[in-house]
Amino acid sequence: MSAPLLEISGLCAGYGSATDAVVQIDLKIGRGEAVGLLGANGAGKSTLLKVLGGLLPSRAGELRLDGKALPKERPSSRMRRGVVLLPEGHRVIGTLTVEENLRLAAISRWPRGTRAHLQSVLPEVYEVFPVLAERRRQLAGFLSGGEQQMVSLGRALVAKPRLLLLDEPSLGLAPVVIDRVYEAMERLRQTDLSILVVEQNARRLEDFCDRVHVLQLGRIVASMERGHMDHAALRAAYFGDQPSTAPAGDAASDRE
Ligand SMILES: Nc1ncnc2c1ncn2[C@@H]1O[C@H](COP(=O)(O)OP(=O)(O)O)[C@@H](O)[C@H]1O
Ligand SMILES: [Mg+2]
Repeated sequence: MSAPLLEISGLCAGYGSATDAVVQIDLKIGRGEAVGLLGANGAGKSTLLKVLGGLLPSRAGELRLDGKALPKERPSSRMRRGVVLLPEGHRVIGTLTVEENLRLAAISRWPRGTRAHLQSVLPEVYEVFPVLAERRRQLAGFLSGGEQQMVSLGRALVAKPRLLLLDEPSLGLAPVVIDRVYEAMERLRQTDLSILVVEQNARRLEDFCDRVHVLQLGRIVASMERGHMDHAALRAAYFGDQPSTAPAGDAASDRE
């Protein structure tokens, strides 16, 4: 791998007086790489993303961006460093138009030079997601779930991220709509940003990612590189190394 954009070492985090929800995480993301994090409900996926996005302080460990230690800080300062989190279930502001949603994302990112930035970034977003250009004047609340997810990805793109953190972007969407969302994410990849995507769906991550890590009870229990991904092994790790007791069919890990 080239010099990593983000390097996580020994990261622990949790809530209140409870034990750590993520434990001793070591992980690297290179420039332009897509890395997946697979895990069941409660495995600690969202917790890890919250720490990376600056929403939750870590208890131990280190984050390095471009080789420099990232201080504990708030989401807005992470965003200025190019780390943008799209939280789970995050969609759009339904009473605003598509373009207003995109403009709002720019205002929170560049409170001063917003206008200049929008002039350059909006055409880029519309080029990546032509459907948003077609729907720019429609109220976002009337769009389909998949289109709303597209607006949400567009909003993230307005912030010009270097590292995009996506928490279950396919959650609650029909398989055919998920195809669209992943096509959109594929286009995002071609803009050379790095992506860390969390899913409960092994197949989607296998197809999309350069590397997939399986998270179980807060720990990484298996890691696989593109070209060496073994679907059965991924599922076994997801279910806790007991492939014979995994439900028949592709239940949880391929849930859509
Ligand atoms: N806000 C919270 N307060 C207390 N505990 C939480 C909170 N959010 C998550 N947890 C706990 O942390 C663990 C990891 O949760 P989470 O990171 O949300 O898992 P995942 O995203 O993989 O489903 C779970 O045991 C969950 O109950
Ligand atoms: Mg979650």
